Amino acid sequence: MKILGLVCSPREGGNTEIMVREALDEAARRGAETELVLLAGKNITPCQACEACMAEGVCAVDDDMQAIYSKLVEADGILFGTPVYFINVTAQAKAVIDRSFALMMTGRLRGKAAAAVVVARRVGAGQVLSLLYTWFAVHGMHVAGGAIGYGREKGEVREGPGGSPGLTALDEARGAGKNVVRTIERLAR
Ligand SMILES: Cc1cc2nc3c(=O)[nH]c(=O)nc-3n(C[C@H](O)[C@H](O)[C@H](O)COP(=O)(O)O)c2cc1C
Repeated sequence: MKILGLVCSPREGGNTEIMVREALDEAARRGAETELVLLAGKNITPCQACEACMAEGVCAVDDDMQAIYSKLVEADGILFGTPVYFINVTAQAKAVIDRSFALMMTGRLRGKAAAAVVVARRVGAGQVLSLLYTWFAVHGMHVAGGAIGYGREKGEVREGPGGSPGLTALDEARGAGKNVVRTIERLAR
């Protein structure tokens, strides 16, 4: 069972990375093989609407997204992490979402389990979570829940609350890791 954690923050070592690492650690404790990919410092351009992918699902833009396509396809489960930027995902996350159109053409994400990990300072996390759930569903992925963490400066999320009453941010992250593993296990039965 392979689980890919994608961190769509431009800030290395930030709150989203902390949350996704926590979720992946929980998944690993439950037997998953895990991989963390940071988008910080990567060159992923926006979709150019060239429609090259319409024929065979292969994106013509040669940048760092090509390696991410392979990792997404190989994974059984995806933990998609993004901070909230102006009540939305980051530009890095949006580039991945738009470029995932190429994978939709050939249904290569269909049947995978996916959970969202969203970090905010204050407002917009629920909205971003819903948006990501819809993106998962459009690909035919199984929504395995999500985690919200609150924090602003790097590391604040370690002490920050989660989105659910009584849960810390890191409790929620572990929950997302657990749910992705459980969903994959159920699908395999
Ligand atoms: C450009 C920008 C826009 C942001 N917009 C929001 C927002 O709309 N709502 C919010 O609660 N936090 C917002 N934040 C705060 C980040 O979500 C928060 O600092 C988060 O912890 C960053 O995650 P990271 O450490 O993984 O980069 C924004 C931060 C930046 C840099």
